[in-house]
Amino acid sequence: MASWLRRVLLAATAASAFGAPAVAGANDSEAPPPARQRELIRLLKQDCGSCHGMRLTGGLGPALTPQALRDKPAESLASTIVAGRAGTAMPPWRPFLTASEAEWLVARLQRGDTDAP
Ligand code: HEC
Repeated sequence: MASWLRRVLLAATAASAFGAPAVAGANDSEAPPPARQRELIRLLKQDCGSCHGMRLTGGLGPALTPQALRDKPAESLASTIVAGRAGTAMPPWRPFLTASEAEWLVARLQRGDTDAP
C-alpha cells in the first residue's frame, strides 16, 4: 500500500475512534452545531413527542425507537420528517428544520441517542 494512502487511512481511523464524542457520530459529518442540536432534541421531545409519545414509543404516530426504525431506509424517514405524509396526521417540518437536520435526527433516532448534547 502506498505510504500516503496508509497515512490517510490511519488518520481516518484515528478520527473515527477518538473524534466520535466530539462530532455526534460516525456519519454525521454535517452534524449541526451543539446549540442547534439542543433545539432539535427539544423539538423532538416536545413537538414530535406529542404524537409519537413522550418516550417516542408511539401514540397517534408510530414508535420512533431504534427497533421500530431499524429496517427502514434513513433517507425515506428523513423525507417523511421534512415533507410529512399526505393523508396522515404527520405534518411537514420543512419550516422548522433542514433536510440535513432531519437526517441528523433520523441518525439519532435509529441509534436511540436522543439525549441533548
Ligand atoms: C400531529 C401528529 C404528529 C406529529 C406532531 C409528528 N408526527 Fe411523525 N408521524 C405521525 C403519523 C400519524 C405518522 C404515520 C404516518 C403514516 O401512517 O404513514 C408519522 C410518521 C413519522 C415517521 C415515519 C415512521 C415510519 O416508521 O415510517 C417519522 C420518521 C416521523 N413521523 C418523525 C417525526 C418527527 C421527527 C416529528 C417532529 C419533528 C414528528 N414525526 C411529528 C404523526 C405526527
